[in-house]
Amino acid sequence: MPTIWGRRLLFCQWDAMSEELPIEHIQDHDIRGETRWTGYVKLSNGYRVGVLVLAVGDGLIAVRNRCPHRAVPLLQGRLDQTAGTLECPSHGWELPLVGSDLKGAPVVKRDGQWFLVRTAV
Ligand code: FES
Repeated sequence: MPTIWGRRLLFCQWDAMSEELPIEHIQDHDIRGETRWTGYVKLSNGYRVGVLVLAVGDGLIAVRNRCPHRAVPLLQGRLDQTAGTLECPSHGWELPLVGSDLKGAPVVKRDGQWFLVRTAV
């Protein structure tokens, strides 16, 4: 099992990638009347990182689907669109969608395929 430090390294590798990353194995979820999607992106080293895609404003954003505290999946987290945060369902940490913890990035859908678009680091 990867350590917390190991997961941090995976975050860094996500940062280091410069192209659009296909999101694989997309699944739909209805969370309190709101559609969310989960899937994976594959890194250049072969690791797969789980992502959670959220509708925020007029767009879509993908975040890591693990809390930085204890790696709990964030699918059931409460989204605050005004504050731009996702509340962890386990211990209530308020996690900014964009930033060092969740690595939020825009998502585009082209020809039926979802892509995470890495922005400048
Ligand atoms: S596991 Fe998310 S705040 Fe503790």
